[in-house]
Amino acid sequence: MKWIALQGLKGGVGTTTAVAHLGEACHRQGRPVLLLDLSPGNLLRVYLGMPWEVRRGLVPALTSGTPWYQAAYRSATGVRFIPFGVESHPPAEQDYSRAVLRQWFRQIRREAEELQLPAQTLCIVDCPALGPGEELLLQDLVELHLLVVNPDPGCFASLRQREPLPAAQVLINRLHAESRLECDLQDMLLASPTTRVLPVTIQQDAHVPESLAWKQTVFQAAPASQAAQDFALLASWVLSQLREVEHVS
Ligand SMILES: Nc1ncnc2c1ncn2[C@@H]1O[C@H](COP(=O)(O)OP(=O)(O)OP(=O)(O)O)[C@@H](O)[C@H]1O
Ligand SMILES: [Mg+2]
Repeated sequence: MKWIALQGLKGGVGTTTAVAHLGEACHRQGRPVLLLDLSPGNLLRVYLGMPWEVRRGLVPALTSGTPWYQAAYRSATGVRFIPFGVESHPPAEQDYSRAVLRQWFRQIRREAEELQLPAQTLCIVDCPALGPGEELLLQDLVELHLLVVNPDPGCFASLRQREPLPAAQVLINRLHAESRLECDLQDMLLASPTTRVLPVTIQQDAHVPESLAWKQTVFQAAPASQAAQDFALLASWVLSQLREVEHVS
């Protein structure tokens, strides 16, 4: 099994979108996947078509002592995922501290190895966004850590202030290809000696929120879209990176 964490440099940059689409794209390319929502917003499931009223998920299972893998679901296209879930008596949001999330993740990673999942399974984790001054959440616990950013001056400045981030590779999402400013910011990031930027960028595409409204990814709702093309390329890049990791280990 290989593990990938996706984390936003800040909230709202499209991390959950990227997890759902990367998962669907890898699944379409024949790689078994398990998507794990470690983000208290519990929104990953929406892309995967889960009914609103279902409250089950990872955290209600962990906090009630039930095996977490019993909270797994399969989307209509066959993607396996575990939603964050909704607790009956939810604690204040800050109680889902990074230490607690890390501890849960360690347990999941350890126990997942004992499950009868296909050996090639790729586990993709939706992590909460980085807060000011916070350390990356899972960088030392996964094979690949992608930090999601938007190509805007705010993200650019925030990234520069945090450099170097050697453990993470930067995924640019929501590029407006017609914006000179955004293309320049992308070029500056790509040229930076201290930031590793993925060679694949996801463009801004109105089909992404439209698909979400249908509780689907663009692969079902808009298969000919730019976003479908970009996310398929992203999956190919991720799978080629992991082949290199597998080759070395
Ligand atoms: N490439 C894109 N093109 C257009 N819209 C996008 C794109 N990526 C994400 N969005 C939209 O941006 C909004 C926020 O996306 P998402 O929920 O994935 O962000 P997030 O980083 O996970 O947020 P949070 O920090 O709250 O968890 C959604 O409405 C989504 O449809
Ligand atoms: Mg999210």
